[in-house]
Amino acid sequence: MENILEVKNLHVTFSTYGGNVKAVRGVDFHLKKGETLAIVGESGCGKSVTSNSIMRLIPNPPGRIVAGNILFNGEDLTKASEKRMRSIRGVDISMIFQDPMTALNPTLTIGTQLIEGLVQHHKVTAKQAKRKAIEMLELVGIPNPEERLKQYPHQFSGGMRQRIVIAIALICEPELLIADEPTTALDVTIQAQILELFIKIQKETGVSIILITHDLGVVAKIADRIAVMYAGKIIETGTKREIFYEAQHPYTKGLLHSVPRLDARGDLKPIDGSPPDLFSPPIGCPFAARCPFTMEVCDNVFPVQTNLSHHHIVNCWLQDPRAKKSKSVRITVDGRQPT
Ligand SMILES: Nc1ncnc2c1ncn2[C@@H]1O[C@H](COP(=O)(O)OP(=O)(O)O)[C@@H](O)[C@H]1O
Ligand code: SF4
Ligand SMILES: [Mg+2]
Repeated sequence: MENILEVKNLHVTFSTYGGNVKAVRGVDFHLKKGETLAIVGESGCGKSVTSNSIMRLIPNPPGRIVAGNILFNGEDLTKASEKRMRSIRGVDISMIFQDPMTALNPTLTIGTQLIEGLVQHHKVTAKQAKRKAIEMLELVGIPNPEERLKQYPHQFSGGMRQRIVIAIALICEPELLIADEPTTALDVTIQAQILELFIKIQKETGVSIILITHDLGVVAKIADRIAVMYAGKIIETGTKREIFYEAQHPYTKGLLHSVPRLDARGDLKPIDGSPPDLFSPPIGCPFAARCPFTMEVCDNVFPVQTNLSHHHIVNCWLQDPRAKKSKSVRITVDGRQPT
């Protein structure tokens, strides 16, 4: 299957009064056509900065893509003009954010908001646009779509508003949908319904999806592959099975333990400690300060990549036989064993 998206060595930095925040520090991943990739990690690890970079929505200043490539169907979006990006956003790539209320304009009917993009980017008559709007509301499960088109956002519940946001994102039939914490603002039952909706939409439209969340429970249902981010880097990636049943990185294991369970309310087991400061991130493993298995090498050298299977990749010294042999193994910064 063809890659619809390839992100290579992406670095994004924000210049602030306090110094440079290295929010994304060399991220690599790909997405195949029709696939759902989940990007998971605690708040502040760079998930939104990564996905906003794909849409080129990093405010500059203070932010800047300082290195890397983002290939969308082979075209490098880091080099695309702003005009080109405007023709891509909402048409070829659509994005859904956490809060449906801020994504919708409270002063316009949802009918008007639905057809806005269609009318702007495609030559359609008013009648065709309305028909398409009704079709989209049906797809996302809003009853009486013809009546509902005339209503305003405040006349809908939170869950219904998020369905409308999804309908708007899909009306121009994008190839890639990026959903950044799309269910975080919703209660658990509605969350489950929205996730079902993503599954249905993918089946019916074949759209490729990047789902961003801090909650591994959310991805259990719908992801094909999972990338785990920590302190601006992807530290483990694999198929859903590999991550849920064969996770190797201590951080991924910690995240799995902190998945809230319906049968054990309040029994959330967070990982002790907090992520490193991104003004001067550690040169070694960014998880070293919180990891129960830290070795000397972990503090000094960023863990090399270990390929455990075709999809399963992890960056942790525990996987490296050189580090495993001795707790005090010394490896120089360029990765060679000292002689
Ligand atoms: N506009 C900004 N200015 C300065 N720092 C920013 C800005 N946007 C994001 N960051 C920093 O980038 C890092 C990653 O943020 P983000 O991608 O939003 O995390 P999350 O994984 O929660 O989506 C954080 O440390 C955040 O403080
Ligand atoms: S590289 Fe070292 S500190 Fe980092 S996760 Fe692996 S064992 Fe822990
Ligand atoms: Mg975010």
